[in-house]
Amino acid sequence: MKVLVSIHIPEVGIEMLKSHPGIDLTVWDVEDKMDRATLLKKAPLYDIVLSSSEYRIDKEFIEACPRLKMLSQFSVGYDNVDIHELEKRKIPFGNAPGAMTDATADTAFMLMLAVSRKMVYMTNRIKEGTWGFTPPRAFLGLELKHKTLGVFGLGTIGTEMARRCKGAYNMDIIYHNRTKNPIAENELGAQYVSFNELLEKSDVVSVHCALTPETKGIFNKKAFSKMKPTSIFLNTARGPIHNEIDLIQALKKGEIWGAGLDVTNPEPMVKDNPLLFMENVCITPHIGSATYKARDEMARMAATNIIQFVDGKKITNLVNVR
Ligand code: DGY
Repeated sequence: MKVLVSIHIPEVGIEMLKSHPGIDLTVWDVEDKMDRATLLKKAPLYDIVLSSSEYRIDKEFIEACPRLKMLSQFSVGYDNVDIHELEKRKIPFGNAPGAMTDATADTAFMLMLAVSRKMVYMTNRIKEGTWGFTPPRAFLGLELKHKTLGVFGLGTIGTEMARRCKGAYNMDIIYHNRTKNPIAENELGAQYVSFNELLEKSDVVSVHCALTPETKGIFNKKAFSKMKPTSIFLNTARGPIHNEIDLIQALKKGEIWGAGLDVTNPEPMVKDNPLLFMENVCITPHIGSATYKARDEMARMAATNIIQFVDGKKITNLVNVR
């Protein structure tokens, strides 16, 4: 089978595919991603494509690839993929869940601390040469011990974030989910609450859900207005889950205290976005899974999906066509 690896994944995944019988491999070994036109020209020549959340795998792409038999993605999130179109054509799709759980939870935890102490803003003051006298009442931050963490989407990543907050600061954990999470309830004493309660009671709200029609824009003007003026909003999941204009307004009006984002809408964020200049805001450029360990594991999982398909085995991380 002709396989296209369409993004520059770690070598471990390439080696697995290269050495596997029945696979005729082509690798896009350029660091930059393919532009849309190149992807639409190349992909139709392959039976299997290893894709990335950087690409729009939409109806146009799927229709352009009539010989496509399987798609495997180098990410856990697949909001870039038209699953319905794949389903219609009975094209199996696999992803890489779990590979970046710790790395993403670390990113959320890091942002929480960075925001609570205005870290990026303060470092920038040094770079700008404005580190002079620091008045005792200026640039003060928040402490997190015994505060309440509200997790929106308490799956594996949300649970790891909750574990970090419980372990480091003995924070109380509340959460809102589609379904209850008995493991986190038993282990961490996490308490299920309504969305409104989550907003009203949390000192830190951390978003860890998937981007779906239900979660798109759920953190909007109305939601921010219900949060505590001393609260921190964190999003390490997907940018469109919060409304950026409403977030800027909420920060300006003091409806919330600070924000830490690893995901923005759009990505990349433009360099003059007002959020980048706010004292209590820290933004990172979607680096949640950017550790050696996580990226290697993502490559292994994306390659495994393909190998299992080629060998006619059950795809462990199959998302559709069950
Ligand atoms: C994921 O795997 O979904 C990460 O956010 C990278 O896109």
